[in-house]
Amino acid sequence: MNLPVFTAFILLCVDFSKSEECVCGKELIGKRIIGGQRAKSGAFPFNVALFDNETGYFCGGSLINNIWVITAAHCLDERDPKSFTISISFTKLHDPNAKKFVAEKTIVHPDYVPAPKFLHDIALIKLPEALSFNDSKVNPVCLPTKSMIHFSNLIAIGFGITSRFSSASENLMEVPLIERNQTECKIIYNKLYVRFTDEHICANQEGKDVCNGDSGGPLITKLRGHLYLAGCTSWGILCGSYQYPSVFTRISSYLGWIEKNASEDAKWCKSP
Ligand SMILES: *[C@@H]1O[C@H](CO)[C@@H](O)[C@H](O)[C@H]1NC(C)=O
Ligand SMILES: *[C@@H]1O[C@H](CO)[C@@H](O)[C@H](O)[C@H]1NC(C)=O
Ligand SMILES: *[C@@H]1O[C@H](CO)[C@@H](O)[C@H](O)[C@H]1NC(C)=O
Ligand SMILES: *[C@@H]1O[C@H](CO)[C@@H](O)[C@H](O)[C@H]1NC(C)=O
Repeated sequence: MNLPVFTAFILLCVDFSKSEECVCGKELIGKRIIGGQRAKSGAFPFNVALFDNETGYFCGGSLINNIWVITAAHCLDERDPKSFTISISFTKLHDPNAKKFVAEKTIVHPDYVPAPKFLHDIALIKLPEALSFNDSKVNPVCLPTKSMIHFSNLIAIGFGITSRFSSASENLMEVPLIERNQTECKIIYNKLYVRFTDEHICANQEGKDVCNGDSGGPLITKLRGHLYLAGCTSWGILCGSYQYPSVFTRISSYLGWIEKNASEDAKWCKSP
């Protein structure tokens, strides 16, 4: 008598665990346009945009699990966590259909040093509710591994990437960048008032760059078809200048901190 009920229960469990399974770093569409071009819908299903209630769009970010977002510390420093919204925005800056949230809390890296040094420029935002990944529109980016030191391909993503003087772009843009030599970036930058350390990545490409409004947004590397968060946009001197590459916070330098601080109520998707 009890057996069918028991079997049904097992089946239900199996079904449930299947629907809960997720893999990070998926591109939800096959093809993207590259070269400072519009990102195609679904290409970066982890991208988020941060909007100040009063002044509007101010920074980007990346979803790393079902409830935590990574951004730059300078985006959040001193900002009241309730004074802005997080919009899960894939392609349009002002997407009326985008899910919008007020942060449950924010965590700025305890060693963050503000401008002009911008050290440990990394922060976390906790969403008020867990997202589900089975509607095929949202999916977290993979964290890199410790051994991902050099990158054969990099893509910066943001609503700010257009030209030096324009305001935010209505379309999510992507720009392929080339990693620059770490030693040379140390030489370039440590002569100035800024600091460039091993916790940074520097990258650019002649005429292509990240700029104001891209802060906190993702620097992605693609490995065997999956997207990994190599960096988050931190700072630069003169947008689009080859002489001064853009600087990104190196995510692999903060894996311990991220995994500890972004695990409350979190479900991490499997790395491929
Ligand atoms: C900011 O806007 C959100 C969404 O409209 C709202 O829920 C929140 O209370 C606002 N925050 C403040 C401080 O007014
Ligand atoms: C996944 O989608 C189904 C059907 O759309 C829904 O009932 C379920 O609650 C979703 N799972 C989660 C974890 O939200
Ligand atoms: C980076 O530049 C330094 C100094 O110019 C050089 O010694 C080193 O071999 C370069 N590294 C790479 C990976 O090209
Ligand atoms: C955040 O990370 C630091 C360093 O790894 C750790 O000491 C601290 O306990 C973490 N905080 C939380 C809330 O997990």
